[in-house]
Amino acid sequence: MRIFILGFMGVGKSTLGRLVAEQLSLRFLDFDMLLEEHQGMSISDIFTRYGEVYFRKLEHDLLREVVQTNDHFILSTGGGLPCFHHNLEFMNDHGQTIYLKSDAEAIANRLGHSTGSRPLIAGKSVSELRQYVEETLSRRNHYYAQASIVIDVDLEANKEANVNLIVNTIRQVID
Ligand code: S3P
Repeated sequence: MRIFILGFMGVGKSTLGRLVAEQLSLRFLDFDMLLEEHQGMSISDIFTRYGEVYFRKLEHDLLREVVQTNDHFILSTGGGLPCFHHNLEFMNDHGQTIYLKSDAEAIANRLGHSTGSRPLIAGKSVSELRQYVEETLSRRNHYYAQASIVIDVDLEANKEANVNLIVNTIRQVID
């Protein structure tokens, strides 16, 4: 079983995905970390040196490689991955996609604490960040909405509540 965790930056894809994988005894893969290891470079450096178009091509290629060489995992994707190069269709064809949904305001509040390592929002003021999240989320909704499962996550709730919600949803799909 391949499970892909999707969602905007800051919704907790990596943190929650890791905990969910532990509970389900599935291998956990963090796509951004895999990409950094693969390239020997941080995501920020890839954006700075080569730009977003190149980064999206790397994502596309690595996604296919990971899927071709693994068939049992929970993978947390980068926030933009499903929205480029037919990656969402590809993931839907090869496993279950789970969209961790939250609203722009909650996401912007969450991201306010951690813009540094994220090149698309680095250096933005609070109001610029809010505007960026609103605009980008409304563009990306079209893709995220095509996930096979949509789960509303409460970014204010404790992690356990969200982990249980995701685990229970996956169990229903597996059974
Ligand atoms: C991106 C999200 C990031 C990372 C890159 C681009 C995006 O991942 O892939 O900075 O386009 O939303 P996280 O969602 O894990 O922060």
